[in-house]
Amino acid sequence: MAKCIRVPKSEGEPIRRALMEEGLLDMDYRIGSEGDSILMPVLCDGYRGYAAEEAELRPSNRGETDYKDIADVPDGLKEYLPKSFDVIGDIAILKLEDCLVPYRAAIGEALMKVTPNIRAVFLDGGVKGDFRVRELEKIAGSGTSEVIHREYGTRMMTDPSKVYFNPRLATERARVASMVEDGEVVIDMFAGVAPFGTVICRHARPSMVYSIDLNPECERFMKENMRLNHIRNMECIIGDSTEVVRKLPKADRIIMNLPQMADRFLDSALRSVKPSGIIHMHKIMERSELEPFQKEMAKRMADEGLGMRVVRVSELKTYSPTMSVYVFDICPE
Ligand SMILES: C[S@@+](CC[C@H](N)C(=O)[O-])C[C@H]1O[C@@H](n2cnc3c(N)ncnc32)[C@H](O)[C@@H]1O
Repeated sequence: MAKCIRVPKSEGEPIRRALMEEGLLDMDYRIGSEGDSILMPVLCDGYRGYAAEEAELRPSNRGETDYKDIADVPDGLKEYLPKSFDVIGDIAILKLEDCLVPYRAAIGEALMKVTPNIRAVFLDGGVKGDFRVRELEKIAGSGTSEVIHREYGTRMMTDPSKVYFNPRLATERARVASMVEDGEVVIDMFAGVAPFGTVICRHARPSMVYSIDLNPECERFMKENMRLNHIRNMECIIGDSTEVVRKLPKADRIIMNLPQMADRFLDSALRSVKPSGIIHMHKIMERSELEPFQKEMAKRMADEGLGMRVVRVSELKTYSPTMSVYVFDICPE
């Protein structure tokens, strides 16, 4: 028996893609169908309101397409091999339990053998510091971690060892881009290499997108991404967004993708958004804190003389057994 969620056929492809991006699709089983429903094998207890259930699903029978089958690690450690990893451009990035680190070269080689178009594999030592930059060690393949990543018809140059980049945000970037109306002024306060701005400029018609980041390394990548995607209506600004936004025109839409602490910057965003505008704020928090957090945030803003209303909250992904990443869509009042 496999753990799966039952989703309507019309929802099948977007849900499958989102599960893949979050590493929650159980690749050991094939996707099944029953009447008008798709049975999607999952590694979680529920997803986007669909509770997990048990069902008979056929094993995926991936043979030598599964790196776990050919990785040269002691049998007792195979169960610790990660089921998912990130692919950014033509590199793979994976986290390993401490017990597997001595076997990292063999694991990297196995991943290269079964994953088409992968040039190199990097061991992920986690993100560090204000710039959220990844500590990477090459464990197989050749070349550096600088890549061109493709997302929703865009090409983006990035290097996760120098600047923050998260391929798992593709669905969220597409959601925000789909909401942008003609002529909008958009501010991305924590832009990284400007993937939000790039997807927005390619799929909508804003009058201007201001992409701001504190990390000086971002500038080269932002500018290259404008060039790669023939974008003229984006301005790349290196600086502290609390300072920078004061000098910019008021925005129709502000993106705040600094999930560890975006709420600390919400007052700046509320002062910089038009009365008819909207803020998309990403935040990691305990699931049990969702309600009190919103009350406390509204009170904190009221103390500053700023009115706000949360118009939509959505869980983007699980972060730990008790925490999730949420996006709050917030309007000024
Ligand atoms: C989670 S990353 C966001 C990346 C980007 N939005 C994406 O989709 O890939 C947060 C970014 O905020 C930047 N940052 C942190 N504090 C900042 C500040 N005060 N002003 C501007 N950028 C800041 C970091 O350098 C980092 O690139």
